[in-house]
Amino acid sequence: MSSRIDVCVLDDASAVAVAAAGLFAELLRRRPDAVLGLATGSTPEPVYAEMVRLHRDEGLGFARARAFNLDEYLGLDGDHDQSYRFFMQKHLFDHVDIFPWNTFVFDGKTADPEQECLAFEAKIRAVGGVDLWLLGLGTNGHIAFNEPGSDPTSRSRVVTPDAETAEANSRHFADPAEVPTEALTAGVSTILDGRQIVLVALGAHKADAVARAIEGNRSPDCPASLLQGHADCTFLLDRAAASQLS
Ligand code: F6R
Repeated sequence: MSSRIDVCVLDDASAVAVAAAGLFAELLRRRPDAVLGLATGSTPEPVYAEMVRLHRDEGLGFARARAFNLDEYLGLDGDHDQSYRFFMQKHLFDHVDIFPWNTFVFDGKTADPEQECLAFEAKIRAVGGVDLWLLGLGTNGHIAFNEPGSDPTSRSRVVTPDAETAEANSRHFADPAEVPTEALTAGVSTILDGRQIVLVALGAHKADAVARAIEGNRSPDCPASLLQGHADCTFLLDRAAASQLS
């Protein structure tokens, strides 16, 4: 089966960041109250830096936007410097005019994780769905914390990240033993319900996962390959990440 994923290969990380931020800028200019779907991790950092620049230098407005984040560690407070809430404040929310009450990141300290997931899905429904999800990609093909084997119909839920993911994420923690063993994540279906998806991947260490996502079978073995079923999905890649594509 041929993939429906659009692929755009650019020279380097900064060109990819400009292109990804440009998609959000175009959306916000067309629809100022757009619903943004956001990711954390190393890959989106330059994307957010470009969004902040567009806000500062070109007046890109977020005052009517709503933003939902893909995932959060279970057990970490939003003030913890490794929480995804902390990351979003640091890299985007504190530097643009988005209102705090319009930013939705799972509460990692929730007493009722299942209810937190149901509430997250309900909030997305209440605002009419996500217009544009920004995704990164795990070296094992994960999207958000949907690890290999994730059900294509899955919704937001509590998950246990794979050892490979925990190992990759441990680089951000002073002590690897501190990496939370559970997380809250948007499901594969929650992501596929978005009207538009842009996945960003940078570097040779993502090349194998990129090739499996785009040219491999559409299978839960590589959750990103499930994006092949989406009508408007683009992969923005640097040359290294695209190097194993035929
Ligand atoms: C984080 C997320 C994850 C990352 C992935 C890649 O919100 O959704 O799936 O996108 O683990 O992380 P980086 O960009 O650090 O390589």
